[in-house]
Amino acid sequence: MTDHERMMERVDDIIAAYEAKPTALIMILQEVQQEYFYLPGAALLRISKKMDLALSQVYGVATFYKAFSLEPRGRHHVCVCTGTACHVRNSRSILEKLERDLKVERGHTTPDGEFTLETVNCVGACALGPVVVVNDKYWGHLTVSDVEKMVEAVKAGESTPPTAA
Ligand code: FES
Repeated sequence: MTDHERMMERVDDIIAAYEAKPTALIMILQEVQQEYFYLPGAALLRISKKMDLALSQVYGVATFYKAFSLEPRGRHHVCVCTGTACHVRNSRSILEKLERDLKVERGHTTPDGEFTLETVNCVGACALGPVVVVNDKYWGHLTVSDVEKMVEAVKAGESTPPTAA
């Protein structure tokens, strides 16, 4: 079985689990993204055919929500807050350190598919600034020298930051 066939089979299973109900489209897209860390075009096409929805409608939903990505994403999603409160507490240096250590520029994914580095304007935890959100966990009051420790902890699968929001 090819990778493509395997993907189609998995997408079909996800659609079947929701009985191909159009109202479940967002949930179906969420599950596909959990599986592949993004929404591959072939999967969106399959969803549109199997669920009898216009491809433009499927793409419309996939591009409307920021949580969905049409680009391959890494296993770990690292999001540096660059909002004002974090900016004044040196978030830029943290971002630059992450770019250097992970060898990836913001908005991109490492070639090994491990990390996607992004920025965001305020994650609503300004008192913890500067904040980096890794896989939905908040790392607060970070310093440049904490970055290495954080990356090692994430690689080791430790999901509990020292300061959780
Ligand atoms: S500015 Fe970073 S959490 Fe608000």
